[in-house]
Amino acid sequence: MNADLILCSPQVVTCAPGGNPRPGSQMNQLGIIPQGAVAIHQGLIVEVGPQSEVCSRWQGKREYHRGALTPGLVDPHSHPLFGGSRVHEFQMRARGATYQEIHAAGGGIWSTVQATREASDEQLGNTTLERLRRMMLHGSTTIEVKSGYGLSVQEELRHLKIYQDLKSRLPAELVLTFMGAHSLPQEYTGRQADYVRLVCEQMIPAVRAQGYAEFGDVFCEVGAFTVEESRLVLRACQEAGLGLRIHAEEFNHLGGARMAAELGAVSADHLQFLPPEDFAPIRAAGTIPIMTAGTSFFLGMSQFAPARGLIEANLPLAIGSDFNAGSCLSESMQMALSLAVLKLGLSPEEALIAATVNSAHSLRRGEQVGSLEVGKRADVLALNLSDVREWPYHYGVNVVESVYCKGVRVG
Ligand code: NIG
Ligand code: FE
Repeated sequence: MNADLILCSPQVVTCAPGGNPRPGSQMNQLGIIPQGAVAIHQGLIVEVGPQSEVCSRWQGKREYHRGALTPGLVDPHSHPLFGGSRVHEFQMRARGATYQEIHAAGGGIWSTVQATREASDEQLGNTTLERLRRMMLHGSTTIEVKSGYGLSVQEELRHLKIYQDLKSRLPAELVLTFMGAHSLPQEYTGRQADYVRLVCEQMIPAVRAQGYAEFGDVFCEVGAFTVEESRLVLRACQEAGLGLRIHAEEFNHLGGARMAAELGAVSADHLQFLPPEDFAPIRAAGTIPIMTAGTSFFLGMSQFAPARGLIEANLPLAIGSDFNAGSCLSESMQMALSLAVLKLGLSPEEALIAATVNSAHSLRRGEQVGSLEVGKRADVLALNLSDVREWPYHYGVNVVESVYCKGVRVG
């Protein structure tokens, strides 16, 4: 039989089975095939197995890689569309100011909103594309991207449209999330309830009519939105047919993750301050916890999400970059892998399943991506490491040698 491409490697890391989210101890199995091969036809994987078998069945162009082959990484949490720079805040934080102090003083998200509103479509499109390409070249072949630096009907729609237009300029897949309730815009100071009404009654219906966003998200936090306000926003998202996600328990435990789980959220993200009594309701709802260790690291926090406890409670963890202007300026999911091991206590195997199978399911993409299995999209990475377990160990550098999206080499 004919295949467009057959990739061969001394170590094929399938991450199979990927049909369901992998909880607890099931996160430790990588499905490694020594001397393996992946046959690809028309953008899909048609066979994965030992080289001797795959190559006897399939004719076609063969590429031999010296290092491991893995599924493309799935980044389930990022905010790459923003104008301006927050390097001055980075310097203030290095001198001891905290992220929340800067936010309360009118800096933080608000300063990025101003710069983003001032930037043209072309500027935002080009800078965002450059960031997304860097994410892809570091191994992310499916990337969730959030709006949330617009905070008006017109700006939020503009940003979602820019993301939508970037889909044709980037081989990696983008998954769009609306996050109009990211922060209170300054023009609504003292009128928080009015802004929540604007989000629910005007923004969300407009986002629905536009049809680009697949998920809705909200920042449930002191200084952002309360649990009750977040519930209103998520309910409105749900009525508009959007899947639900939440930023919760990032700096304080308010109970947002639990509330979102009760509404059937697909993911609850950050969770640095999630207490053990909230694990069971999240598990019962099938909500996937997404850890963003890069955020704690970049903000100099001592508190990291309770990843080990969640795994012991048999939940399926995912990890994301949280790439954004203020709290985590790193495009690299490889860095997220290293931090998952170093700061969350995951094994290299667990970290990789969190960044592939589980993150794919957290984006409702578990049938298409996240593992090297027949019928899935041929999103594949070739590393220049012979053993995949060295990946998080080798930190802060790019060890992805080649990136394939739908069977085409893109980097
Ligand atoms: O995920 N928590 C809220 N949103 C982002 C930070 C955005 C910003 O600081 O610009 C986050 O950490
Ligand atoms: Fe975030």
